[in-house]
Amino acid sequence: MSSAIVEVDCINTYYGTSHVLHDVSLTIAEGEIVALVGRNGAGKTTTIRSVMNLTPPKTGTVRLRGSEIQGLAPHEVRREGISWVPEDRRVFPNLTVEENIDLAANVERTDSIAEVYERFPRLDERRHQRAGTMSGGEQQMLAIARAVVGPPPDLLMLDEPSEGLAPQIVEDVVDAITELNEDGTTILLVEQNAEMALELADRAYVLETGRIVHEAPASDLLGDREVMESYLGVR
Ligand SMILES: Nc1ncnc2c1ncn2[C@@H]1O[C@H](COP(=O)(O)OP(=O)(O)O)[C@@H](O)[C@H]1O
Ligand SMILES: [Mg+2]
Repeated sequence: MSSAIVEVDCINTYYGTSHVLHDVSLTIAEGEIVALVGRNGAGKTTTIRSVMNLTPPKTGTVRLRGSEIQGLAPHEVRREGISWVPEDRRVFPNLTVEENIDLAANVERTDSIAEVYERFPRLDERRHQRAGTMSGGEQQMLAIARAVVGPPPDLLMLDEPSEGLAPQIVEDVVDAITELNEDGTTILLVEQNAEMALELADRAYVLETGRIVHEAPASDLLGDREVMESYLGVR
């Protein structure tokens, strides 16, 4: 018996005839923070899209708690327990914070809406502000809030949450991710910012042109100059 929440098993994903993911496999155990790192264009976002079935893999399987989820629509994948925060955050700029959250919550679960404001007091203060007028960090928090409101996700995938944020604000995002994890949410953290991701994660996979080239405890990778330099461009 494994305690894997999600097992990605040998997936191959294409955009048209362009073969992007090559036999990608990864396992995420309950309670872990797993980082998926790699340079721009390595296939990180495509891996998330494959798990959500937004870009369904042509071959291979994705299992959630042991059950294959192929063929499910993305909203059904969400209902089954996998949620994601897109790279471009995709908040509705002309809607208020509250409207953004209500839309994501799909109502019914008003208790979960209250929980989200407890978790993100800053959003509570700004309920009536239009999302597009908030700072990048606040919009990232709103994007995370949108991903976790409603039925609590078993797995939350974050696509480049630190992108475009000042270091001080990245710390706030790191704290939010840490707290979600401590409260029981398993995390897949996708980042070009390898140092940030590896400091936060338990384990990490390195993706290079659509292939997993390395898997190790995050702290080992951080200390592995060769991998950091050759695959992640960190000097
Ligand atoms: N919609 C798309 N159509 C065609 N090619 C795409 C599309 N999205 C991404 N790609 C290509 O797939 C590869 C992986 O992209 P992506 O998963 O976005 O990488 P990453 O998130 O690691 O930067 C890149 O070569 C990219 O150009
Ligand atoms: Mg990407």
